[in-house]
Amino acid sequence: MMKHDAVIYVAGHAGLIGSAVIRRLEQNGYRTPITRRRGELDLQNSGQVSEFFEEAHPEYVILAAGRVGGIVENQTFPADFMDENMAIQLNLLKAARRVGVRRLILFGSSCMYPRECPQPMAEHALLSGKPEPTSLPYAISKLAGTYLCLAYNKQDHDTRFIPVIPNSAYGPHDNFDPKSAHVLSALMARFHQAKVSGAESVVLWGSGSPRREFIHADDIADACVHLLRQDDLAVELPINIGVGQDVSIKELAELIAEAVGYQGRVEWDRTKPDGAPRKLLDSERIRSLGWKPTVTLAEGIAATYQWYLNHVDRETSQVS
Ligand SMILES: NC(=O)c1ccc[n+]([C@@H]2O[C@H](COP(=O)([O-])OP(=O)(O)OC[C@H]3O[C@@H](n4cnc5c(N)ncnc54)[C@H](OP(=O)(O)O)[C@@H]3O)[C@@H](O)[C@H]2O)c1
Repeated sequence: MMKHDAVIYVAGHAGLIGSAVIRRLEQNGYRTPITRRRGELDLQNSGQVSEFFEEAHPEYVILAAGRVGGIVENQTFPADFMDENMAIQLNLLKAARRVGVRRLILFGSSCMYPRECPQPMAEHALLSGKPEPTSLPYAISKLAGTYLCLAYNKQDHDTRFIPVIPNSAYGPHDNFDPKSAHVLSALMARFHQAKVSGAESVVLWGSGSPRREFIHADDIADACVHLLRQDDLAVELPINIGVGQDVSIKELAELIAEAVGYQGRVEWDRTKPDGAPRKLLDSERIRSLGWKPTVTLAEGIAATYQWYLNHVDRETSQVS
């Protein structure tokens, strides 16, 4: 059982998932985790990572640092997505193994699953087909990190490395830049700007019919702490973290427009691609370990919009 005074390192603490992990650990009464800003510790630098682990000797590590982005970013910077994520994962996993951490959580991604995966996507379906081509380099980098965890566990006869696969995350500290953001935060920023400027309509990509699963970062953080607290955990496969329900992009747009108070029209540009028709995780495994999500999509969107309003600059639309 993870003790309350355990030495915990959260990599990527300023990001969407990392900041939620920090909040959850604090709420649950754990000792303040160790954090380092990128300027103090560049996780792509193996020497710096190695030195930091030798000094700090963390017992538990949550690896929430990485290069993340939407479809346009993935297509524009495929090499950076692959190279940065592989370097960060390899550096941290090697250092963690060398100093003998008790447990490490690594975040994979639902885009590691085959494009034509049977729904809902169960962990054993990984590598049974090719992932979606537009995010392939990112998916391969995440598969590499995930399978390195499993290989260490197997070779060391241990269960120290826990790869998890959350579905699309959202919440405070998300990226709201419409050029690089994921769909939920991008829609929130688009509707907000349309409301402020009094626009009569907002044009969105595709048909609105693909179905996606969204999970609040607080639920992901809660699931991670739950997993770290398990004494006996078989880790032969990664563990999905989902809410068990999906919505169409059209339904999502309606929920967000309502939370934002945007009353204009929504038009769909069907000349733009839809992507995979459905991406729902099978989260039975984590449910069987006694965890379930608590944040509904409507509540999560309302709270995230409130956070966005408190952090968006009215002049520049930048979020701080
Ligand atoms: N967001 C999702 O929907 C989602 C879903 C499934 C899995 N995941 C995975 O979960 C993890 C966290 O995602 P997120 O959405 O929380 O990402 P995020 O908000 O973009 O945060 C990533 C963090 O990593 C830090 N970072 C990146 N490169 C670094 C480097 N070289 N050295 C030090 N710090 C570095 C960033 O620091 P700066 O602020 O300095 O850039 C940032 O704080 C990622 O591995 C991602 O693949 C995310």
